[in-house]
Amino acid sequence: MNASQVTGSWPARSFRVAPGGTLQGEVRVPGDKSVSHRAIMLGALADGDTEVTGFLEGADSLATLAAFRAMGVEIQGPNAGRLLIRGVGLHGLQAPGAPLDVGNAGTAMRLLCGLLAGQRFASTLMGDASLSRRPMRRVTDPLAQMGARIETTPAGTAPLAIRPVPRLSAIDYNMPIASAQVKSCLLLAGLYADGETCVTEPAVTRDHTERMLATFGCPVRRQGAKVRVAGGSRLRAAPVAVPADISSAAFFLVGASIAEAADLVLPAVGLNPTRSGVLRILQAMGARLSIGRPQDSGAEPVADIRVQSARLSGIQIPADQVPLAIDELPALFIAAACAEGETLLTGAEELRVKESDRIAVMAAGLTRLGVETEVLRDGIRIQGLGSRPLGGGSIDSHGDHRVAMAFAMAALRAEAPVLVQDCKNVDTSFPGYAAVAAAAGLGIEEVVA
Ligand code: S3P
Repeated sequence: MNASQVTGSWPARSFRVAPGGTLQGEVRVPGDKSVSHRAIMLGALADGDTEVTGFLEGADSLATLAAFRAMGVEIQGPNAGRLLIRGVGLHGLQAPGAPLDVGNAGTAMRLLCGLLAGQRFASTLMGDASLSRRPMRRVTDPLAQMGARIETTPAGTAPLAIRPVPRLSAIDYNMPIASAQVKSCLLLAGLYADGETCVTEPAVTRDHTERMLATFGCPVRRQGAKVRVAGGSRLRAAPVAVPADISSAAFFLVGASIAEAADLVLPAVGLNPTRSGVLRILQAMGARLSIGRPQDSGAEPVADIRVQSARLSGIQIPADQVPLAIDELPALFIAAACAEGETLLTGAEELRVKESDRIAVMAAGLTRLGVETEVLRDGIRIQGLGSRPLGGGSIDSHGDHRVAMAFAMAALRAEAPVLVQDCKNVDTSFPGYAAVAAAAGLGIEEVVA
């Protein structure tokens, strides 16, 4: 059974969340999804054995793991977040016997597309219904400029049929959108290209690929907005300690900020500056956050975050923080709904092509809870309720994991129960979310509905 069949065959799951309550104690969130995907990919292409700890055992990163097993890579685990990847070297992957199904995982599909474009065998990438609607020309167009042969549907979506080509050539690519997936896709393809591939980003995006490539002994040069990698660079296996995922921590940062009498500690969360826009945005809204025990976890900085209840104020979200908080915006919308005054987000059209159209889906849910919003082409205006409570009601998450987890936290400030529907994909990034949140005090129950 493949990843899409697994996610598609589960009974519909919902979160029933009691109104009010608080969050207290210590919450350990699972490993970072972006880093987990990359650990499998680079570990597989490296010479030698890579030990990974803190790996996210969620459906998305497990789909990446299964894809590499299907290409002949021996991977032991996962066992409590521990993996051993027996690297096959840059040219050691084998043709998969069937299409590689990456389920809901956009990162897997876009990064693998670059990596597979340089292989000597044909392959096909497919995903679930949500991923099959998401735009792929953003990667297939620049890969075609490198000489890759990749077929999409006429709409530019998956499945992606990748044919082998005699050679890829390096390009100098100015990314039209700020996307770490596109950047990483091209850097991975660049490992197989003749010459030096250069990617220029229009705004800073997450740099996990560059950091991990450097850890694996591959020279990546960064000069301002440009990142360069040389074709043929070999990777040397290196241990990877995956930090706790700040994107998963974000739900608790918001939940504890909006709840009464909350006091929560989130240990060893990844605080890579290209990911921590959520902290800066929450601080600008008046959140009470403190950072303790900063340290390095391999190539990534981590620290403990303490968060306590606060009176939040609406803000204009700074444009430069948008790509640095792109996955945390659904949670931040809930913070905005509970803040005093208006919050304005613009420059975030990318939210429309995530696992759902997160602007439309979040606005519909907020309206349901009695929050006034104005939907903009590239963002949203949210009229915060301040000290007034949110309403309750039934919310359709449209199968989007981050939308589901964000609305579950909204119940902390609601006056009636919140039912969040279609939550099975929460397992893509945060398996066990309901249990972890319940242990911290959220009145959440998972129900089959
Ligand atoms: C990711 C990059 C972001 C993010 C996604 C993970 C990554 O996507 O939204 O969840 O791991 O590189 P974009 O590159 O499309 O912005």
